[in-house]
Amino acid sequence: MKNGSGVSQIRQPIIKPMVSSDLDSVVRIEEHSFHHPWTRDQFMDELERGPVSRCHVALMVDSEDDTAQNATSSNGPVVGFIMAWLVADELHITNIAVGLEARRRGVAAALLEHSIGETIELGAQWCQLEVRISNRPARELYGLFGFKTLGTRKRYYPDGEDAVVMGKDLTIRV
Ligand SMILES: CC(C)(COP(=O)(O)OP(=O)(O)OC[C@H]1O[C@@H](n2cnc3c(N)ncnc32)[C@H](O)[C@@H]1OP(=O)(O)O)[C@@H](O)C(=O)NCCC(=O)NCCS
Repeated sequence: MKNGSGVSQIRQPIIKPMVSSDLDSVVRIEEHSFHHPWTRDQFMDELERGPVSRCHVALMVDSEDDTAQNATSSNGPVVGFIMAWLVADELHITNIAVGLEARRRGVAAALLEHSIGETIELGAQWCQLEVRISNRPARELYGLFGFKTLGTRKRYYPDGEDAVVMGKDLTIRV
C-alpha cells in the first residue's frame, strides 16, 4: 500500500484485548479454520469469564499509522485471535487462528508473543497446549517458540484424532 506521498506502507499486526464487537470477525475466522469450530456463545463465555480468560485479537494496520497503538477494528480488520487461560502460574492456550488471507505474515507469532509476554508479567511460569497430530503449521509455529512435545492424548478430538501435548518453560528466557 502507498500513502499520499507515494511512500510504501507495511501492514503489521497490532494485538488488542478482544471485545464483543470483534466476534463477527472472530467467528468467521474460526469457521474457516476448524472442522469443529467453537460457537459464538463459547467465545462470549470466554469474554465474560473474568481475568482467568485472556482473549486477544490481531488487527492489521499501516505501520506508519501513528494511532496504531490505539487501534480498534475501525482502523484495520481483525485478522486473527488467541484464547488462553491463566490459572495460577500456568498459561493454557485454548485456541489460536488466523484468517486465510493473512497467514504466513507473522500474525500468529505476534499473538503468541503478546499472550506469553503479558502473562509472564502476571507471573506465568509454564505454558501448555494441545495440537492435532496432523496440524503441521501449528506444530511448526509452536516449535519455533520453543515448545517441546510432552506426549500424546489418544483420541482427544471429537473425530478421534490424537492430540500432541506441547509445553514451554517460561522461566527460561532465550
Ligand atoms: C497455525 C496458524 C495459526 C499459523 O498462523 P500464521 O499467522 O500463518 O503463522 P505465522 O505467519 O505467525 O508463522 C510463524 C511461523 O510458524 C510456522 N508456520 C506457520 N504456518 C506454517 C505452515 N503452513 N507450514 C509450515 N510452517 C508454518 C513457520 O515457522 C512460520 O515462520 P515463517 O513464516 O518465517 O516460516 C494458521 O495456519 C491457522 O490459523 N491455522 C488454522 C487454525 C489452527 O490450526 N490453529 C492451531 C490450533 S492448535
